[in-house]
Amino acid sequence: MSALVQPLPEVNPLQDTLRFARRVPPCAVVIFGASGDLSKRKLLPSLYRLFYERRISPNFAVIGSSRTPMSDDRFRGVMKESVSNFLEDAPFDEDVWKSFAQSLFYVPGDLNNPASYDDLRDKLDAVEKSHQTAGNVLFYLSTQPSHYAEAILELGQHNLNHGTGWRRVIIEKPFGHDLDSARKLNDEIHKVFDESEVYRIDHYLGKETVQNILAFRFGNSMFEPLWNRRYVDHVQITAAESIGVEGRGAYYQEAGALRDMIQNHLSQVMATVAMEPPSVFDSTNVRDERAKLLRSVRVMKPEDVSTHAVAGQYGPGKVGGQDLPGFRQEPSVDRDSQTDTYAAVTFLIDNWRWAGVPFYVRTGKRLPKRVTDIAIQFKAPPLGLFTQETKTGPREVRPNLLVVRIQPEEGISLRFLSKSPGSGMRVRPVSMDFNYGSSFGERTPTAYETLLVDAMAGDPTLYTRQDMVEASWQIVQPILDVWAHSRFEFPNYAAGTWGPRTSDEMLARNGHVWRIP
Ligand SMILES: NC(=O)c1ccc[n+]([C@@H]2O[C@H](COP(=O)([O-])OP(=O)(O)OC[C@H]3O[C@@H](n4cnc5c(N)ncnc54)[C@H](OP(=O)(O)O)[C@@H]3O)[C@@H](O)[C@H]2O)c1
Repeated sequence: MSALVQPLPEVNPLQDTLRFARRVPPCAVVIFGASGDLSKRKLLPSLYRLFYERRISPNFAVIGSSRTPMSDDRFRGVMKESVSNFLEDAPFDEDVWKSFAQSLFYVPGDLNNPASYDDLRDKLDAVEKSHQTAGNVLFYLSTQPSHYAEAILELGQHNLNHGTGWRRVIIEKPFGHDLDSARKLNDEIHKVFDESEVYRIDHYLGKETVQNILAFRFGNSMFEPLWNRRYVDHVQITAAESIGVEGRGAYYQEAGALRDMIQNHLSQVMATVAMEPPSVFDSTNVRDERAKLLRSVRVMKPEDVSTHAVAGQYGPGKVGGQDLPGFRQEPSVDRDSQTDTYAAVTFLIDNWRWAGVPFYVRTGKRLPKRVTDIAIQFKAPPLGLFTQETKTGPREVRPNLLVVRIQPEEGISLRFLSKSPGSGMRVRPVSMDFNYGSSFGERTPTAYETLLVDAMAGDPTLYTRQDMVEASWQIVQPILDVWAHSRFEFPNYAAGTWGPRTSDEMLARNGHVWRIP
């Protein structure tokens, strides 16, 4: 198979204004890891919701597979409970479920056992006839990442990568644990599937607000002229979680915040904020621009890591009067763990638009609240005509700030200066707000709903391509390498605070301060 074959643009998402009206062809969805957490919490509820809204073809079938022995009926029972529990912002309808459940099947099997794939093929042949799925198959690898390569090779060995219809494969994150392993995994996948058939999921790209960044930037003419080094002072991207590792200590200890969030989600968000406008809005051009941006991010020299990246780990703390354990006190975590539960990085983008503008990216667990946002901090006016009156006396006015809120409350706010009522020229910042919920008044599809429909429709725009994944590993790899040989004085922030002091110092060196979101 060729290493990188650009898929032909099949659909045009921006022109497809009525996204719900997208035509999705008949197909079978095979979920490996069907008894797992992701399948129960996200995949089945999303598929049910898509069925409920008639956004997928009536000629569809879901075949779940994992080692747990279950009959079709038992699988339907387990999934009914999950769907009714995890359906977000939507009621569960018993009649719709009955009809949906007729399309659910289960094949027990071990991914390492070749016989499992024969059983799977028999089931696929059967549903192709019974549900007229036209031979189209979407494989979803929702298993531990250590199984991806083996499962894909077995699909190839059993000729399941070919059929009467199309074949596609969705691969969950993490895609590799470093640059080398990501490259190796790509090589293994390309022995079986063409790049145009590979859908690497990054569910942040499926979030409505992240997609809206492109509409906001390229559908309006008034922001884009300011979207560059002449007017933007710096950018802050924050993904804060208030929760700890929630029983996933063993997994998290191997990953850490930089790998778990910045390498994938936040670098893709940064690429969306900073990329050039595509000449045409199709999957190839949008992904070309994202990839180009990621390749323009300066790859740090080892000696720059200590000044451009900060690792943190939470210790015990108090939130809302409740005592919380430190990371090292969590179950399955080593008592002297060196894992980063907080990471902050200063990225510099070496292109004409962004030269000299720092992009500060931070993420962490056990921070004071759950919030993900992007703050574009504009430069101050060239002449300071006004001062802002505050309780502690006059201070310099705060420059314009544009905040894109990704979660929990989705929207966009623009802060600007206004004259306070009354005599005299007293000014203070005010905010102009757009709120997704109140402006559109309809339920926003979850990222997994959007991404599943896109994969069935053959639109990879919101999926990451091989070159994007490798470029994003490239920019975090020097940090991972230096950190692997470092001994941190952890814990260095208390649960319930905004991270280590060294993170504030990183920004202070440039005269900047982290916003409190
Ligand atoms: N959970 C999330 O919110 C989330 C978010 C983002 C990404 N992800 C990614 O999604 C993937 C799945 O995550 P998860 O949380 O659902 O994991 P999980 O709960 O541990 O589920 C793993 C699944 O794989 C099956 N499995 C394990 N070994 C197998 C084998 N040898 N053969 C066949 N099936 C096997 C397990 O079922 P049996 O034991 O019955 O075989 C189970 O269904 C991972 O790559 C994860 O990184 C998860």
